[in-house]
Amino acid sequence: MSSASALALRRGVSGSPLRDPAPVRADADAGVATGTGALLQVDGVSLEYRTAQRVVRATHQVSFDVFEADRFVLLGPSGCGKSTLLKAVAGFIPPVDGEIRLDGRRIVQPGPDRIVVFQEFDQLPPWKTVRQNVMFPLRASGVLGRKEAEERALHYLDKVGLARFADVHPHQLSGGMKQRVAIARALAMQPRVLLMDEPFAALDALTRRRMQEELLALWEEVRFTLLFVTHSIEEALLVGNRIALLSPHPGRMRAEINSHGFDQHSLGGEAFQATAQRIQRLLFEEEQVASS
Ligand SMILES: Nc1ncnc2c1ncn2[C@@H]1O[C@H](COP(=O)(O)OP(=O)(O)OP(=O)(O)O)[C@@H](O)[C@H]1O
Ligand SMILES: [Mg+2]
Repeated sequence: MSSASALALRRGVSGSPLRDPAPVRADADAGVATGTGALLQVDGVSLEYRTAQRVVRATHQVSFDVFEADRFVLLGPSGCGKSTLLKAVAGFIPPVDGEIRLDGRRIVQPGPDRIVVFQEFDQLPPWKTVRQNVMFPLRASGVLGRKEAEERALHYLDKVGLARFADVHPHQLSGGMKQRVAIARALAMQPRVLLMDEPFAALDALTRRRMQEELLALWEEVRFTLLFVTHSIEEALLVGNRIALLSPHPGRMRAEINSHGFDQHSLGGEAFQATAQRIQRLLFEEEQVASS
């Protein structure tokens, strides 16, 4: 499918507000290929790192489905394999067991349909201007010609509120602004799934909260499909509509939690606190089991 029709599909997804009780699901062409309607299927996936000395199992038989326009969060303690799972979905690490499918097709390598935004502020080449940074993958992957790439870059820079900064270099931006550029660069590629690995973790608390809210506003507008990694319970509840809770190392699926009813207005509310406590209990119980 062309990226233009992928966007048309995403835009065609009937929008439901954050508080809508029904998770947003659109069958797209995935339903034809898989019969489940899932856009992304992580199916019994075990991931390992092999060094000369030993084998480290990062995840053990993890399964979940992500649907079109989901904001799906991987939540779990440090070392449970969240980043490894994201890298596997990106196509950088092949599973030793199970498989990952996008639109029903097995993922075997990286592709422009899956773009990653990382935590680090240095993910933007410093010698390129903001505009050139956003244009670069569009040009390098041959998705668009120069003029169209520039138009699309400016469109997404505008969406993240940085159109005025198109001609500055990354070192002239704050950490939050750099992350906005990275998000614009990723969205400009109009990926089937946007992958984010703790993108706001290195920001101060106020900027982090603002970025979470901006991401939700952007999602309201563009309705992209998001796979988001965090180890913050609060961030997971705020950003996600569904949360996969992973047990400590090696990561296994502990529970899946529905969080579509929460947004920035729910913070501190009763339902929000109750769900946060439930997640904490699930993590804590798991730790006790693991250490006994
Ligand atoms: N390159 C590597 N070589 C060997 N082992 C690795 C490598 N990268 C990660 N691991 C191990 O794999 C496991 C999962 O790591 P991963 O980085 O996916 O965890 P994480 O959940 O993202 O943690 P954090 O929240 O700290 O980022 C850990 O035990 C880690 O030590
Ligand atoms: Mg990580």
